[in-house]
Amino acid sequence: MEKTIDENKQGEALILDKKEGNSRKIFIESYGCAMNFSDSEIVASILSNEGFDTTNSLEDADLVLVNTCSIRDKAEQTVRKRLEKYNAVKRRKNPKMKIGVLGCMAERLKTKFLEEEKMVDMVVGPDAYKDLPNLIAEVDDGRNAVNVILSKEETYGDIAPVRLNSNGVTAFVSITRGCDNMCTFCVVPFTRGRERSRDPHSILQEVNDLWEKGYKEITLLGQNVDSYLWYGGGLKKDFDKASDLQKATATNFANLLDICAKAQPKMRIRFSTSNPQDMTMDVVETMSNHKNICNYIHLPVQSGSNRILKAMNRQHTREEYFDMITTIKKILPDCTISHDLITGFPTETEEDHQDTLSLMNHVKYSFGYMFAYSERPGTMAERKLKDDIPEDVKKRRLQEVVDLQQDHSRYRTEEFLNKTVEVLIEKESKKSDQYWSGRNEHNSVVVFPKEHYKIGDFVNVRTTRCTTATLIGEAIGYSENN
Ligand code: SAH
Ligand code: F3S
Repeated sequence: MEKTIDENKQGEALILDKKEGNSRKIFIESYGCAMNFSDSEIVASILSNEGFDTTNSLEDADLVLVNTCSIRDKAEQTVRKRLEKYNAVKRRKNPKMKIGVLGCMAERLKTKFLEEEKMVDMVVGPDAYKDLPNLIAEVDDGRNAVNVILSKEETYGDIAPVRLNSNGVTAFVSITRGCDNMCTFCVVPFTRGRERSRDPHSILQEVNDLWEKGYKEITLLGQNVDSYLWYGGGLKKDFDKASDLQKATATNFANLLDICAKAQPKMRIRFSTSNPQDMTMDVVETMSNHKNICNYIHLPVQSGSNRILKAMNRQHTREEYFDMITTIKKILPDCTISHDLITGFPTETEEDHQDTLSLMNHVKYSFGYMFAYSERPGTMAERKLKDDIPEDVKKRRLQEVVDLQQDHSRYRTEEFLNKTVEVLIEKESKKSDQYWSGRNEHNSVVVFPKEHYKIGDFVNVRTTRCTTATLIGEAIGYSENN
């Protein structure tokens, strides 16, 4: 395989794997969560065996695939705009182009794309990517093609992803698919199906392979990583029916972390996302047993009000969440914590909102991803509750949590000031080509003058200044991990 470096539209390096003999070109664009970006790498791998190389030019593409997100209405609107753009390019410059929709919108809207919108040739749900060769053959024959069947087994464990937009240093490794939690606001259980875990052997193989290729950091990915459970295949919910032997030899998330950390002791290991109701302290203990597992947990809370948490079907209270944070900090005193929050969930009062602000003040998260509630068709909240919080109130509450998070982010970033932090260099800083940009294990971005260091090096950096979320400093030498 020959490798070429190109520029994609965001200006980041895109490494294109060119396979000899491949003559057709796909343009793949991904929206939404990390899982979608990771899935697109699986799609690129499947299609590379079908004669397709990736391209970053719409005008050259034989096939345009957009991996879509349904989590909020705005995410879907963004995709619709992109579909209009592809169709415009197709009309004006590239009539041979075929267009396919992948991911959560494909699953949610199914054939509606073909019937009502007439903007696409192919609709493929998240568990149907192995069927792409057949679906493309249908499209080549002039027919529309659809496969949105959700699977009980599919984990793509046997497919080696083609790394797209890669910096060659950090990579995602997917470990579970689907989600069984049924948070009432969330469309994911409907678009990604039931929860199933990937065989630990294939995960380990991918991790080892990444190390061999020079990668230095992986993020184990799942909608709900803590409920990872391998007992020989099958749905998480069917574990009760497993044999005694299967139960005795099952691998849970703490075991998986341990296996990966031991196999590659110099590889940095991250994971996302943890759900408070499923995270066990075994996981935190395992983190404390391995230096290479980063002391950082993304632990979404969604709301600080017990009444709203209940209405969201989150299976914990605010007090239990606090207890969990206290225990985490006892085991890992320097662990950083981040969150997701929703403002304006149905029936949310000013008092509920104040509870959210006070929860944030208690935890002082390092980072946060905050959203105004967006009603999603088919979810329990949509069926049972009126979307009764006016848009301006949702937005105002959102601004308040965002402002508070800014203060907390700054507070947390300043905790690393005038200290030495170990940074894995990932890329050039966006602000200056004289600086490298990387992260410490706690997920803070750190920038510093390049000197003789290079991408992929572990470097000790003495921090001297900071902005809200970025530390600035100077390298003082390679770290012992290098
Ligand atoms: N477990 C998943 C969560 C996916 S959704 C993961 O891997 O991250 C990411 C975040 O989007 C959620 O934590 C929630 O805060 C937000 N979200 C989900 N559904 C939403 C909705 N209907 N409206 C607003 N925000 C939503
Ligand atoms: Fe969604 Fe809740 Fe699962 S937010 S992805 S249903 S843990």
